[in-house]
Amino acid sequence: MTETARTHAEAAPRVPTTMRATTYDRYGKPEDVLRVTEVPVPATGPGAVLVEVRSASVNALDWHFTTGLPMFARPALGLRRPHRTIPGADVAGVVVAVGTDVTRHRVGDEVFGEVSGGGFAEYVAAPADWMVAKPANLGFEEASTMGVAAETALQGLRDWGRLEEGQRVLVNGASGGVGTYAVQLAKALGAAHVTAVCSTHNVETAARIGADRVVDYTREDATATRERYDLIFDNAGVWPLRTCGRMLAEGGSYVMVSSPKSRWLHPLPRMVANPLYFMLASGHGPGFKVAARNTADLELLAGLATRGLLKPVMDRRFTLDEAPEAVRLQGEFHARGKSVVVP
Ligand SMILES: NC(=O)c1ccc[n+]([C@@H]2O[C@H](COP(=O)([O-])OP(=O)(O)OC[C@H]3O[C@@H](n4cnc5c(N)ncnc54)[C@H](OP(=O)(O)O)[C@@H]3O)[C@@H](O)[C@H]2O)c1
Repeated sequence: MTETARTHAEAAPRVPTTMRATTYDRYGKPEDVLRVTEVPVPATGPGAVLVEVRSASVNALDWHFTTGLPMFARPALGLRRPHRTIPGADVAGVVVAVGTDVTRHRVGDEVFGEVSGGGFAEYVAAPADWMVAKPANLGFEEASTMGVAAETALQGLRDWGRLEEGQRVLVNGASGGVGTYAVQLAKALGAAHVTAVCSTHNVETAARIGADRVVDYTREDATATRERYDLIFDNAGVWPLRTCGRMLAEGGSYVMVSSPKSRWLHPLPRMVANPLYFMLASGHGPGFKVAARNTADLELLAGLATRGLLKPVMDRRFTLDEAPEAVRLQGEFHARGKSVVVP
């Protein structure tokens, strides 16, 4: 048994002391600051598990953490230097060691979950209840996409948007990581009709995952219609708030999880304007919210996937050495579903 493994109650004998990881120690363009280095395998405390990463998915937050942009987010990301030194917030893999207090998992369990960075590596340590059992019908790559993006869609529709059965939903930005989950989850939660807004090359994908109507925003203005929605889930944030308010049915909700970004300030102004606008206008606008890691939600998502009600839409696969390109591309905000980094 190695030095690292001796700190665990139960450990596979093959756990090494060092591992390959994509790391960074300063902010900058992903291609300038991310590189593969050899680092210690993280130690796990009594309540934690060590997971051999089989796949980690790429999220917008990896781009934010790597670039340190927008600047107004620096206090949260790390003022002078990044708090996180290894990107990757969503992982799927195999438990290779468990802490002395862990009863939830055993060595050999196949799990997925959301971590606080560290996913673009061969191993990651996390509190045991951050990991849940991987659905048997999903591969590791698919399961690794069901953290941040699917939780954002679920919490946005169910908690912030108060989605009820039979309602009409519009998802703007419907074909990326969050959007492909939002379209499927709206249907799974009982929406009667889902309109998906995306660009030409993603129209087919949006229709395939269950959208009842797909609007190609390069050819048609989705706001220039008499359609009214009980819930607008806005993953793009490009329409004026007044227009969004006008598109809501009586008592409808406008949920905004994103808007275009700039180096310094955006999307802060819209984040501030959103709750103010809906305080004065009719309709429910719960303001800009950030999804929270939630074990029960991950289990719910896993259950939906097991029942075939949720199917991750896979974009591209990258190696650890290619992770800079994966994060750079994520920063263009035109993904088709989810991309993954495979150690
Ligand atoms: N608040 C939270 O908790 C939270 C959590 C996760 C992510 N986010 C934010 O949500 C956003 C989306 O994340 P993601 O992972 O889904 O990114 P993504 O995978 O890159 O998807 C972005 C989507 O936006 C669409 N889009 C881009 N420009 C558009 C426009 N003008 N009109 C309509 N749609 C447009 C893209 O579709 P086309 O390629 O077809 O244009 C794509 O479907 C990011 O800004 C991210 O920071 C917020």
